[in-house]
Amino acid sequence: MYDLSTPKSSTIRLTDEQVAFYHENGYLRIEQISVPEELEALRAIYDRLFEQKAGRERGQQFDLAGSDEDDAVAKLPQILDPSSFAPEMRNTYIWANAKQICRQLEDQEDPGIGDHAILKPAGYGAPTPWHQDEAYWSPNFHYRSMSIWVPLQDADERSGCLAFIPGSHKGHVVPHRQIGGDPRVHGLEIDPEANVDFSGAVFCPLPAGGCTVHHNRTMHYAPPNVGDQPRRAWILGTGGPVTELETPNDYYWQKAWATARQERASKA
Ligand code: NI
Repeated sequence: MYDLSTPKSSTIRLTDEQVAFYHENGYLRIEQISVPEELEALRAIYDRLFEQKAGRERGQQFDLAGSDEDDAVAKLPQILDPSSFAPEMRNTYIWANAKQICRQLEDQEDPGIGDHAILKPAGYGAPTPWHQDEAYWSPNFHYRSMSIWVPLQDADERSGCLAFIPGSHKGHVVPHRQIGGDPRVHGLEIDPEANVDFSGAVFCPLPAGGCTVHHNRTMHYAPPNVGDQPRRAWILGTGGPVTELETPNDYYWQKAWATARQERASKA
């Protein structure tokens, strides 16, 4: 049994070239931040949390891509803060290395980490559409945040690895809308009317336990999982200080949300 009872120390150190690449391009690919036994233990925890529908009644587990009624089969199930249900997830090399990445990329001595899990079922035919993570967040702040995206099995273009638009973190948050224009859907996509050119997309296939890092404004996408294995992604969010804006951004699409998840959360 792999021991997850005590925290691990970080095992990586980014080179100056990697740090510069991240700041220039808004993303970074790292070959490995875990070990096979840890990944095996994490897959078991991960599958259990989804099977048990951990956090659903509190609005912490929901379908990112569908309308999410209680009897519907989730198309793209997500759990917010999975480590709150399985705190041993914080005693991993992945967690320690995520902190190390943030220390180097944002000069943050002891960064806090939030996490979520997105499961893309085998043979699931819909992509995670192009978006910027900040489009989901409060418009009242300036962020210097990053998402560290870790597949718990190999991930490539057939199973839903991430793709990025290099340099897109240097621009604004462009107009978004609920996926397909349906306000019952939690997931957002860049509004087709924004006419963004995605032709420069860079795909980042990864082995299990590798990771990509992306900035809160980097445009990213994941293709459908047409493989025969579920695509388990564990995403750790961390970053530098958050500062309040004098004039909030206008993320008007957030006012359109009317999801079943919000109803469950407000009842809980
Ligand atoms: Ni995202």
